[in-house]
Amino acid sequence: MTRSMTMLSLLGTLLIAAALGLAALREPARRVAAAERIRAAAISEGIELYAQNCVACHGAAGEGLAAYPPLNSAGVQGMEADDLFRTIERGRYNTAMAAYGADEGGIFTDMQITSLVTLIQAGSWDTVAARVDELGLTPPSLVAAEVPPEMLALAAELPSGESLASGLTLYAAHCAACHGANGEGSGIAPALNTPDLRARLTDADLTRIINQGVPGTLMAAWDRALDDQQTADLVTLLRRWDELTAAGVELPVIQAVPVDLSPEAVAAGQRLYALLCVQCHGAQAFGTPLGPALNNQTFLSQTPDSAIQQIIALGVAGTKMPAWRGYLSEADIAALTAYLRSLEPTAPAVAAPTGG
Ligand code: HEC
Ligand code: HEC
Ligand code: HEC
Repeated sequence: MTRSMTMLSLLGTLLIAAALGLAALREPARRVAAAERIRAAAISEGIELYAQNCVACHGAAGEGLAAYPPLNSAGVQGMEADDLFRTIERGRYNTAMAAYGADEGGIFTDMQITSLVTLIQAGSWDTVAARVDELGLTPPSLVAAEVPPEMLALAAELPSGESLASGLTLYAAHCAACHGANGEGSGIAPALNTPDLRARLTDADLTRIINQGVPGTLMAAWDRALDDQQTADLVTLLRRWDELTAAGVELPVIQAVPVDLSPEAVAAGQRLYALLCVQCHGAQAFGTPLGPALNNQTFLSQTPDSAIQQIIALGVAGTKMPAWRGYLSEADIAALTAYLRSLEPTAPAVAAPTGG
């Protein structure tokens, strides 16, 4: 409907309402009710679109996953509708936020984008999370380390302890899954607690790496998920890790949820592998030019289950390895991990040189 038609029908409505006298008093209430209905319909459409397209990065309840920003914050909710519309329509240049508008080569009509904007501004994230769960699209939660209160207290007693304690908490939640509970490194990410790192990288280097990530690796850009103070607290932690160790601060090693290695789980994983992974990682995971071999001792013995699950969930930005979170459930990813683990006893020592 064009704007002038809308104006005309509005005028018409007003004239009739005025003519009807008493009825005019009820008209505003009726119009509010109609607007409410339209808004509710937009929100339910928005929920379906969100569940299918946005969960993998922004989370089942808009909370933001790993380095991806939340949408449930007061800041985003309070953005102008126009700005939200433009962000979803055009994406954000040079970030993982793609352009979704049909005019920009995306998949959504203006109405659909409007529904998403309405959802973000006026929807209930609890309802979204419930619907996402119903569809089986809740992404796996990332593994986090635990910070025992007594360790936090120890850290807080050191000079600028508040910053250290905050850094430790952030590290446990966001970084430990890859870099190890105490910065010792893992099969998928380097150690961060070493004198070498402190000598090699200045505070400015560390800030830049955390903010911008290392493209083409699992190290994501964290600048949207962390504010400047939080990044500074992490840099303080990395700079002074030896002081923490000397003070006796040590986090418990991450207890990943044990992967079910039953024959049923392995078989389920094998089926998913044949559907989704074989074209790149090859038959029996021996690799192809599109993707490295996973079936070898070097990879399997050095990569804990939690790290394998993390890579499958997050993908490797800047490479062909897709992020499967939001498409596969936690159980699917565990089954894939079980399948890869089941190859270990017979895996060759090193990969044949087929990797891409
Ligand atoms: C592949 C990951 C990914 C997916 C999928 C994704 N986004 Fe984003 N989104 C991002 C990133 C990264 C940013 C931050 C971009 C930046 O740095 O400005 C972002 C930013 C946004 C913002 C602006 C937030 C702010 O604080 O300014 C909105 C709104 C948004 N996304 C909505 C959506 C909607 C709606 C969908 C689904 C249709 C979606 N996104 C899908 C990664 C994603
Ligand atoms: C999904 C896994 C993953 C997560 C989560 C992660 N990192 Fe990394 N990080 C990596 C990888 C892989 C590298 C190595 C990149 C490369 O090859 O240069 C890296 C590199 C780094 C480096 C540079 C190390 C060096 O020796 O040059 C720093 C500093 C760092 N990460 C800090 C962090 C912090 C702080 C967090 C949490 C906010 C974090 N990382 C979260 C995987 C991760
Ligand atoms: C389009 C091709 C492609 C598909 C499909 C794909 N991968 Fe990958 N995968 C890659 C590439 C390329 C890498 C190497 C990334 C890098 O350079 O770090 C990789 C890396 C990995 C790694 C880490 C290997 C290592 O040595 O660190 C694992 C684990 C993995 N993929 C599992 C899977 C699983 C499970 C699936 C199916 C659900 C899958 N991949 C589907 C291309 C693919």
